[in-house]
Amino acid sequence: MKVFNLFSKLFLLLGMIAITNQNVQAQVSIVPAPNHLKLGNGFYNLDVTDVIEFTDDQVKTLADYLREQVFALTDVNVKIAQRKSQGKGINLLIDASISDNKEAYTLDITEDNIKVVGASKQGLMFGIQSLLQVIYPNQKNGEIVEIPVLTVKDQPSFKWRGMHLDVCRHFYSVEFVKHMLDMMAMHKLNTFHWHLTDDQGWRIEIKKYPKLTEISSVRPETMVGHYVEENQIFDGTPYGGFYTQEQIKEVVDYATKLCITVVPEIEMPGHAVAALAAYPELSCTGGPFEVYTKWGVSDDVYCAGKEETFEFLQNILSEVVELFPGEYLHVGGDECPKKRWENCPLCQKRMKENNLKDEMELQSYFIKRMETFVASKGKKLIGWDEILEGGLPERATVMSWRGYEGGIEAAHTGHDVVMTPGEFCYFDHLQGDQEYEPLSIGGFTSLNKVYQFKPVPPELDKKSRKHILGGQANVWTEYITSEDKVEYMVFPRLCAMSEVLWTNESQQNYEDFVKRLKVHLKRFDSLGVNYRPLDE
Ligand code: ACM
Ligand code: ZN
Repeated sequence: MKVFNLFSKLFLLLGMIAITNQNVQAQVSIVPAPNHLKLGNGFYNLDVTDVIEFTDDQVKTLADYLREQVFALTDVNVKIAQRKSQGKGINLLIDASISDNKEAYTLDITEDNIKVVGASKQGLMFGIQSLLQVIYPNQKNGEIVEIPVLTVKDQPSFKWRGMHLDVCRHFYSVEFVKHMLDMMAMHKLNTFHWHLTDDQGWRIEIKKYPKLTEISSVRPETMVGHYVEENQIFDGTPYGGFYTQEQIKEVVDYATKLCITVVPEIEMPGHAVAALAAYPELSCTGGPFEVYTKWGVSDDVYCAGKEETFEFLQNILSEVVELFPGEYLHVGGDECPKKRWENCPLCQKRMKENNLKDEMELQSYFIKRMETFVASKGKKLIGWDEILEGGLPERATVMSWRGYEGGIEAAHTGHDVVMTPGEFCYFDHLQGDQEYEPLSIGGFTSLNKVYQFKPVPPELDKKSRKHILGGQANVWTEYITSEDKVEYMVFPRLCAMSEVLWTNESQQNYEDFVKRLKVHLKRFDSLGVNYRPLDE
């Protein structure tokens, strides 16, 4: 009888351990999945007596960030101190020797303390994000928070892990842009591509050209319904908005604290109608124009024959480079119809004088001149894959959106590439059955489809692979009329994007991802994020 009792107790105990481990497994739901994660037994008990310790000055902002985030998640108010580790507590360190990859980090949680080591400040930030994600969602008890014992050793697969946001078709507040940066940081994304100018609105203050904000930032009205509908309807209401240079700096500083680089995009030579509404003399025909009220592509573009066009754009870029400390400047380059250039005496004269055989080469001439200017400012030019047409500037980086082909061609010829093929990376596409989804541009890019995205296409030869910097999600906003709808279109697809850019391909597993995502979405619930629910 006694022996039986002993066995039954042992059995019960083993069962309990198994259940606890299972719970811990479910609890550890880091997105994107770390490349090496080893679960231990037991917990670190976090409480108000805890101190976040650091020695390196540059870590202070991260210690502050961690303290704020821990409080937001748990109501536990820990302290920070610049001092050597004293045992219990959270220890933040930078140690370049842990990896050649500066974004690498390690996270060690024992019952006695928590240690996060980054190969750089960025690496440390990513380690902090993993630590925040092992705190199970909705633990606002303000007392003791159990953090599972584990070890993580991690680094990203790609160095460009981005999200793009079009603020021209619809405009979003500074607060919302910062919120999206917070969400990017949570997912270890490091590049925010800010699409600031387009036909339907100019959104960045340029001191030298005040009419860009007075006139170009407001369109008289907006299309209602889908672009392809036979009877196009307009709402009759002016729509506008722009960011002052002070606001731009505020966003860039905020991003910098989150270890995110902001890449501004100033579109040329096409997608320029908003600017031309204020400065029609920079077009081939002289206008007049109004800020574009419908979606789609306009034939009216900057005149490539006029020196004033180059002067104007270079003056704009001179102000832009002062606002954005990152190394890249995006000049658009996509969807530039050649109709006006074909009929413009000045554009034709420019072609003749420079021995350019067609308008494609005139576009290449345009982008090459801009590249020389951008390089003179110490920046690298990046543009959509149309910049390949007519010849690519020697140092340009290509963002491949019309499939993989442009990116493959660019990489083969030694250019760096960011892959954003529409099929996988366009978050304006539908993510479910059209009947149940809000109005969108169309297409179909489900969560699963995003998870299948491979930034390096298999057909790319080994030598060229190193040119693929990474990928990004593109959020075009013709049909994204509100900030809530941006969230709906972005989440949880951005979670999948983060995993294909961060986690080794060999470790990616959609079923496992969805299992973790179910816990991860509880974090979104507590933040009030308006994500699209998972399909049953
Ligand atoms: C693009 O989608 N026009 C780059
Ligand atoms: Zn012209």
